[in-house]
Amino acid sequence: MAKGQFLFNAVAEGYARQPIADPASYERKLEITRKYLQPQHRVFEFGCGTGSTALLHAPYVSHILATDYARKMIAIGNRKKAEQNIENVDFAVADIRTQALDAAQFDVILGLNILHLMEDVNLPIQRCWELLKPGGYFISSSICSPRPEGVWKVLLPIMSFVGLFPDIQGFSREELIASHRAAGFEIVEEFDPPGKMHSVFLVARKPGD
Ligand SMILES: C[S@@+](CC[C@H](N)C(=O)[O-])C[C@H]1O[C@@H](n2cnc3c(N)ncnc32)[C@H](O)[C@@H]1O
Repeated sequence: MAKGQFLFNAVAEGYARQPIADPASYERKLEITRKYLQPQHRVFEFGCGTGSTALLHAPYVSHILATDYARKMIAIGNRKKAEQNIENVDFAVADIRTQALDAAQFDVILGLNILHLMEDVNLPIQRCWELLKPGGYFISSSICSPRPEGVWKVLLPIMSFVGLFPDIQGFSREELIASHRAAGFEIVEEFDPPGKMHSVFLVARKPGD
């Protein structure tokens, strides 16, 4: 089992019940994302959690493949999909680091609240570059904190050591943007939600058509 998988399975039902922390910022992120979605688009979301965002974007595109390495998150996504009668979203259990997918097949990729959970943020960013068609968009939302703060300074290394949490690397906003540029992306839009989380919402474009 990959590091963190057990924990994300364990918290899945609670995560699904949790109200959105900052509804205004969430709405703004949906609105920004929709500027880049078109009815014929094929979209990929990794680390989709319980699938709420994929299901909300579904009416605006042709198809969404939404994946997460925690099977309980995906089970909840499938439950919500059936309840909402949505047919153009496919949920699958997969780890973004190892998931086999054909290159250059997606118009838009979403990585929401997941990049800061990766050991090496360059890996998923590079994967997104490969999976996007030329001219495609990678849209992400991340907490930029180069080092854990407060109680997490002590807890996170212990949780990682016992396999409960990924070995997170952490990054500053500048490092995150530099990783995108190193992969070949251009940053076309940035939104900084208010609050203490040092969160940044980025829209990056793979140059091309
Ligand atoms: C903080 S949650 C965010 C969920 C959702 N994107 C959202 O914004 O509400 C992070 C999600 O990423 C998933 N995850 C973490 N590492 C992953 C990996 N390597 N591959 C796929 N999913 C992963 C977790 O299982 C969890 O559901």
